[in-house]
Amino acid sequence: MTDSRTTDMLKAQLDTPCLVLEAELLDQNIRAMAQWVASGNKRLRPHAKTHKCSVLARRQMEAGAVGVCAAKLSEAEKLMDAGLRGILVTSPVAAGRIDALAEAAKRDPGIMGVVDCPETVRCLQEAAQRKSVRLKVLVDVDPGMGRTGATVEGGIDLGRFIRGCSALDLVGLQCYAGHLQHLPSYAERCARSRQALQAAARVFRQFQEWGIANPIFTGSGTGTYDADCEIPELTDLQAGSYLFMDAEYRQIGSAEDPLRFRRFRPALTLLATVISANQPGHVTVDAGLKTLFPGRVPPEILVPDHPGLSYEWFGDEHGKIVCAAGAPKPALGSRVELVVSHCDPTVNCFDRYYVIRQGRVVDVWPIDLRGCCW
Ligand SMILES: Cc1ncc(COP(=O)(O)O)c(C=O)c1O
Repeated sequence: MTDSRTTDMLKAQLDTPCLVLEAELLDQNIRAMAQWVASGNKRLRPHAKTHKCSVLARRQMEAGAVGVCAAKLSEAEKLMDAGLRGILVTSPVAAGRIDALAEAAKRDPGIMGVVDCPETVRCLQEAAQRKSVRLKVLVDVDPGMGRTGATVEGGIDLGRFIRGCSALDLVGLQCYAGHLQHLPSYAERCARSRQALQAAARVFRQFQEWGIANPIFTGSGTGTYDADCEIPELTDLQAGSYLFMDAEYRQIGSAEDPLRFRRFRPALTLLATVISANQPGHVTVDAGLKTLFPGRVPPEILVPDHPGLSYEWFGDEHGKIVCAAGAPKPALGSRVELVVSHCDPTVNCFDRYYVIRQGRVVDVWPIDLRGCCW
């Protein structure tokens, strides 16, 4: 489908399954986060792993973000192809890709990588020397998740080691508490995140004492963005999912509601069509495992709007819409609109977003970072 043909269409005419973005809700989410972060005197460095789309990264920058994050170097390379600069790669780069990171620094001296052990620091130093570039490096500090990152003491030692490397510039630290973002209790989530970031802040203060100019302390996600702004040392928030929201996030407690998280709106949905309605208690839609990543909670049905309907995965290409007693059975051919379970891996199943205003497709944005996972 070409863009010019598609942008004349109604949302109701789109082939399914497909991803749609409600432009107004998207704009509201972008504005709400930008305002919150600014009011806390922090900066936003949103994570592009959520949307995998350079158009959206640019819109976030236009709304005040100081830069964007990428999960992998290949995502950062695509963002650079689209003209974005100063990207922070938030995972330690695999050994086989370290030369490519140094090569990327030739295109963009502002690109930043994270490290959590001396071996990687040594490899980065050698690669930077081989390619005659300087590399900006952040120390990754483990918030207690055990995924990546050094201990607080180890992070200080690593910082000292980086400072001694002639081709590396120590620019700050990262501490992302991914294991806390979806804790249902708002109070527990905030308290544990505060504890993790306060511990990591010691590394930041040490970097300041060493005289590193304006060190970055980046972390935080959609689940803890508000509480984390209370950490004085934290400089940047790298939240991602706030842009779209998904069922996993909508079902945790928040400052406003112990059971729901409503500050950000469900801007991203998946459209599906009922393709079989022969059974008494359910119908079958055309969206299954290949288009809807199975997260911890099932997708939420927005349309038809009835509490008696629920989604269950029904194989690779199929989903089951279960109709409780008294719930209307969606008709064959009718549309079902779902808030996806977990947005990041679901987005990675698609090539484009259809952007909707007042029921009409107004734009098509490529998911140009799709499949970039190396
Ligand atoms: C390192 C890092 N930072 C930031 C984020 C964004 O978090 P969220 O989507 O919960 O806002 C993620 C998401 O997994 C991440 O891995």
